[in-house]
Amino acid sequence: MKVSQKDTEKFVWDHMRNTPGTPMSVTQSQTRALPKLLVWLIVFVTATYIVYTLKLVINSPSCDDEIFPAISHTSISLHTSKDGNFSSLPENQDLFRETEVKDIVFGIAASAKLWGKRKNYIKLWWKPGKMRGIVWLDNAVKSKEEEGLPPLRISGNTSRFAYKNRQGHRSAIRISRIVSETLRLGMENVRWFVMGDDDTVFVTENLVRILNKYDHNQYYYIGSLSESHLQNIFFSYGMAYGGGGFAISYPLAKALEKMQDKCIQRYPGLYGSDDRMQACMAELGVPLTKETGFHQYDVYGNLFGLLAAHPVTPLVSLHHLDVVEPIFPNVTRVEALKRLTIPMKLDSAGLIQQSICYEKKKTWTISVSWGFAIQILRGVLSPREIEMPSRTFLNWYRRADYTAYAFNTRPVARNPCQRPFVFYLSRARFDSITNQTVTVYDRHRVPHPACKWNLTSPAEIDRIVVYKKPDPHLWDRSPRRNCCRILESKKKSMVLDVGVCREGEITEI
Ligand SMILES: *[C@@H]1O[C@H](CO)[C@@H](O)[C@H](O)[C@H]1NC(C)=O
Ligand SMILES: *[C@@H]1O[C@H](CO)[C@@H](O)[C@H](O)[C@H]1NC(C)=O
Ligand SMILES: *[C@@H]1O[C@H](CO)[C@@H](O)[C@H](O)[C@H]1NC(C)=O
Ligand SMILES: *[C@@H]1O[C@H](CO)[C@@H](O)[C@H](O)[C@H]1NC(C)=O
Ligand SMILES: *[C@@H]1O[C@H](CO)[C@@H](O)[C@H](O)[C@H]1NC(C)=O
Repeated sequence: MKVSQKDTEKFVWDHMRNTPGTPMSVTQSQTRALPKLLVWLIVFVTATYIVYTLKLVINSPSCDDEIFPAISHTSISLHTSKDGNFSSLPENQDLFRETEVKDIVFGIAASAKLWGKRKNYIKLWWKPGKMRGIVWLDNAVKSKEEEGLPPLRISGNTSRFAYKNRQGHRSAIRISRIVSETLRLGMENVRWFVMGDDDTVFVTENLVRILNKYDHNQYYYIGSLSESHLQNIFFSYGMAYGGGGFAISYPLAKALEKMQDKCIQRYPGLYGSDDRMQACMAELGVPLTKETGFHQYDVYGNLFGLLAAHPVTPLVSLHHLDVVEPIFPNVTRVEALKRLTIPMKLDSAGLIQQSICYEKKKTWTISVSWGFAIQILRGVLSPREIEMPSRTFLNWYRRADYTAYAFNTRPVARNPCQRPFVFYLSRARFDSITNQTVTVYDRHRVPHPACKWNLTSPAEIDRIVVYKKPDPHLWDRSPRRNCCRILESKKKSMVLDVGVCREGEITEI
């Protein structure tokens, strides 16, 4: 908006007349001895000053911008009708509400060959009717739509794209385009697109908790790295590993969809789908926002060490479930994961969160991974040691090499006395009288080598019971490990309480 010359002049004159202490009016000045020129100079400078001040005031952001800073301009126009009537606000409160699972659309990369087996992983976490998403296959499968699974679709033809990596497979191009292909389906009210593989299991409540931390109206690319330092060097420390799953906010997916097909053509030499995605993110200038609850699990062997010492962040996903051993012993992979879904339903925020306590009389260290397993070790291991995952697993090159990881680990103890006694979750329930979860852990009966230390053997314990209040707001507070207390320590059993640390409570012997 421009202020007309006339208005300005009027304003200037009025202003000068009304300002006390203004030395003189222009008409008076003619009768004074002061040179006319000086007066005109003062008037000119003042006028210029006022014009510029006015301009600044007019161009400064409106009040509405300050009240609703996180919202794009299109939504602001909804609030500021011509007469400033805000009665339309309640229906637009939708914009301010927290993200729910219905705001997410999943894009799952699957292959027809493995579908028969892999679909069982998806059934573990998929809630039909509550979640939205598509399984994108390379070829048609026999069983079309199936109970308890997302709808299936065949990915678009990618034969026109060049693929020049000698080690990889050109299906990478197809998988990389899943976000764009899902967006083109035109689903409404989408806040986030989340990618995963057919062998990824999501803890969707925790996924929602993580996404709620970010503004879905902005560009976000959220995921996590590989456990393997070499993989991260080879691919990128700035890439979200696809199997662990990653989230792309709606506006970013829109921007990506516009450029992705051209972008993919510029990187025919890349290996996978996720490095192609990262290449396009780099072109868009959007860095990876790291959330360490997404787990690629580029490891072999037993995940125990990693699941027993999870970082203090919600568990969002598990991947490579065909590669690693079942997470509970002596059951199938799917059965094992199914067992984990029981505590998941009771208190998803606290799932596999670690807490540490010490049995002082017997000199034991106790590490709880809630809903999964408990370890008792002879002697005292400090929290800074026990919060490091023990290397129960092999690296991605099937070697036991501690320099291979992108995080700290501790060795599996050589001394037979330091071998942990492991108790795996066997049952879990909610006690509606005390409003607490009750989880029961039974000792994994494996032979233990002889130990010469004069300490009570944890082998005398058969069963551990843990009480814990569900804490859905755990991650609304600053990250902190829960505290663990021994309520009862008998000859055969132990009762623990896990929960928010009290004032002044620390983990010490
Ligand atoms: C605001 O708008 C609503 C409906 O659009 C109308 O019923 C109400 O009278 C308006 N209020 C004012 C103060 O204009
Ligand atoms: C994909 O497109 C190519 C040519 O563009 C065609 O030769 C091929 O048969 C198509 N594949 C499928 C599965 O439709
Ligand atoms: C494993 O399961 C089988 C049958 O389900 C049972 O006989 C065996 O004792 C179990 N082994 C362990 C170590 O629990
Ligand atoms: C358990 O929760 C219910 C409902 O939230 C409440 O009415 C009841 O008093 C609680 N009981 C205890 C022991 O906290
Ligand atoms: C083992 O410790 C107990 C007390 O803790 C003590 O009475 C006993 O003599 C010790 N045994 C050995 C062989 O040192």
